[in-house]
Amino acid sequence: MALKVVILAAGKGTRMRSKLPKVLQPLAQKPLLQHVIDTAQSLNCDEIIAVIGHGAELVQSRVSGQNICFALQEKQLGTGHAVVQANSYYQDDDTVLILYGDVPLTSPTTLNALLALVDEQHPLALLTVTLENSTGYGRIVRNTQNAVQSIVEQKDATAQELAIKEVNTGIMAVKGRYLKQWLAALDNQNVQSEYYLTDIIAMAVSDGFSIQTAQPTLETEVLGVNDKLQLQSLERAYQLQIAESLMRQGATVVDANRLDIRGDVTVEADVMLDVNVVLEGKVVLGENVVIGAHCILKNVQIASNTHIHPFSHLEDCIIGESCSIGPYARLRPGTELADEAKIGNFVEIKKSKIGRGSKVSHLSYIGDTHMGCDVNIGAGTITCNYDGVNKHQTIIGDHVFVGSDTQLVAPVDIESGATIGAGSTITKKAPAEALTLSRSKQITLKDWQKPTKLS
Ligand code: UD1
Ligand code: CA
Repeated sequence: MALKVVILAAGKGTRMRSKLPKVLQPLAQKPLLQHVIDTAQSLNCDEIIAVIGHGAELVQSRVSGQNICFALQEKQLGTGHAVVQANSYYQDDDTVLILYGDVPLTSPTTLNALLALVDEQHPLALLTVTLENSTGYGRIVRNTQNAVQSIVEQKDATAQELAIKEVNTGIMAVKGRYLKQWLAALDNQNVQSEYYLTDIIAMAVSDGFSIQTAQPTLETEVLGVNDKLQLQSLERAYQLQIAESLMRQGATVVDANRLDIRGDVTVEADVMLDVNVVLEGKVVLGENVVIGAHCILKNVQIASNTHIHPFSHLEDCIIGESCSIGPYARLRPGTELADEAKIGNFVEIKKSKIGRGSKVSHLSYIGDTHMGCDVNIGAGTITCNYDGVNKHQTIIGDHVFVGSDTQLVAPVDIESGATIGAGSTITKKAPAEALTLSRSKQITLKDWQKPTKLS
């Protein structure tokens, strides 16, 4: 007995008006289908079968490599026909959970509650929801004893059935043995001439089974995405859920409507996220970390008590404790800051290690550099790391002082305790504990005349 998850993802999604297949449209920068796959995986299922059709090659290439099987539905002849394509992937004893590639936010808790209703005596369980406006959905028809009798699609429904507010989410769990039998009996004698998966409900009832139903905790869990408007409204719903979960973990979120999380974020107590922060990829924030307004962080790990000031951009960085970064700092991939480092405004750092307590406070570029502790880099310092062909390293020892407007032409070594005079172009090793400078002598021309305006 195994759990198999079939994800229907063959539809075209015409209303998206997009070249990208619907199930690849991004929600929090991740394809809709990937959200469904992640949810399926969190159920510890034994196999995931994606039924693909429209844009099959692209869809397959975007989600492959995750132990997913693909079943091709060449023509989209209906949801029942779609599930038939997955028939060879499940056995009689398996439980088959049917999900939709365009319904991204179903929670594992809800799906587990649905799965718990399925056993040999109850081979079919349905996830239903009661909506104020049920337009477009299949209606759940119950008898006077409140037992589910069938699902009637909107287009096939009578006026009385149209008034029903309990609708089919499409999500169901079925025992493999019966699913196969019932699917084989489907026909397309309906208004849309489609093979409706929903017709198996009436078959189960006529075989004497009572249909179990579960409901989601939140309505957003069962909402599908058909156009860009629904995509953005689910995006906001999703963002709000994540912001709420971060707040429950102790983060202070200044405005949950102005925070965007597009990846996995871990926060410790008293993290502060100001407005218009975007966090992407894997972001780990230690205790008391403050992320100022308008910062973008991607794949960043920040230890406790560090403060990122507004308008800073960090990618693939590891930041120590009690550092201060920005405003307007750009930390590019491969930047590592030890504790108590300070990076000020309009500073760019790339692939460099900055030692404990070192400061690069203003308008500098530091690339391919290994910097020791308690270094002070003056304003406008540039490591000239690129000769037009290759990148070269700059080594800066502990307690170095670099005067403003200095170029360090790599490869170059500034030894511990060295002082570099302002305005220098350093091309050779600067020895330890000495002052090195390269600067043309200052001259003054006393008899120089200011130019006068030509008449
Ligand atoms: C379906 C249900 C309806 C339910 C609604 C919930 C049926 C007959 N109806 O209706 O009861 O209220 O979902 O949203 O099942 N798909 C395929 N291949 C196909 C047809 C569809 O892969 O041949 C996929 C689509 O890509 C989509 C999903 O199945 O992700 C649902 O198909 P759709 O045509 O949108 O069904 P609805 O008419 O909305
Ligand atoms: Ca639909």
